[in-house]
Amino acid sequence: MAEKEGNRLAKNFHLDTPHVNHAFHVKGADHAEWGMKDRLSRIFSPKTGRTVMLAFDHGYIMGPTAGLERLDLVIPALAPGIDVFMATRGALRTCVPPTFNKGIALRCTAGSSVLDDDMSHEVIGVDVEDAIRMNAACMAVQIFIGSSGEKTSIQNLCNTIDAGNRYGIPTLGVVAVGKDMERTTKFFLLATRMLAEFGAHIVKTYYCENFEQVVAACPVPIVVAGGKKLPEEEALTMTYRAIAEGAAGVDMGRNIFQAEDPLAMTQAVARIVHENYTDKEAYEFYRDTAKQSR
Ligand code: R5P
Repeated sequence: MAEKEGNRLAKNFHLDTPHVNHAFHVKGADHAEWGMKDRLSRIFSPKTGRTVMLAFDHGYIMGPTAGLERLDLVIPALAPGIDVFMATRGALRTCVPPTFNKGIALRCTAGSSVLDDDMSHEVIGVDVEDAIRMNAACMAVQIFIGSSGEKTSIQNLCNTIDAGNRYGIPTLGVVAVGKDMERTTKFFLLATRMLAEFGAHIVKTYYCENFEQVVAACPVPIVVAGGKKLPEEEALTMTYRAIAEGAAGVDMGRNIFQAEDPLAMTQAVARIVHENYTDKEAYEFYRDTAKQSR
């Protein structure tokens, strides 16, 4: 039985050795079946193995946050720069034309609003049949490791993985960081590995110190969230470091739709993710593109 105390600290992550089962372009999916691989390929480009996901599911807890006041005006305009829309079914059905044919990461949990002091108690809010109807490339479920809702959120994740596995739909496990949760390497090593071992096909987490250890110890692809709005240059540096240290892409929200020029920001992020731009090159691209569109 594993114990909380007394375990020897993990230290040998073999950072120079790539993941062994890596014939398919998505880490950990070599042995998945056809439908699952097809959906993963709608998320991760078969050319680069990476993805740019635009997260705009904030309204389901925050209401109309800055930059997302009018989903119908904002989101379609950003489609050219991204691979995947990550959102609720309500936002997608009402504000995003199905003609874009992007991958859909469907937010499948629901909970309480920012007015609740403890938002860690979520439920599954979308039936797998509706995910199929939405042609979801994956279902997204948030997990609250170390908080009062930990167990329920793990149950939500496992139920969603089971439902998705029946139909070949991958599950994206989202590591939540509430106000009391630490953002340390130790926490992200624990949380990301737990989600992958429960069967999540993709894990979304935050960039942290020693991020390459978190990536190495997680047997499925990691995509990084953007977090609170940073100056554009800093957000691009964070993106660059995450990709250089092994992230398979981003699932970014506020640092895109709250940027001064959100479309230029999606394109700059995509250049790092898919074209190996450095953060400096991407920021120059962002500045030039934003200037031209003024
Ligand atoms: C978190 O649960 C949500 O999935 C957010 O959409 C996510 O954290 C990404 O948004 P941001 O980049 O604004 O943190």
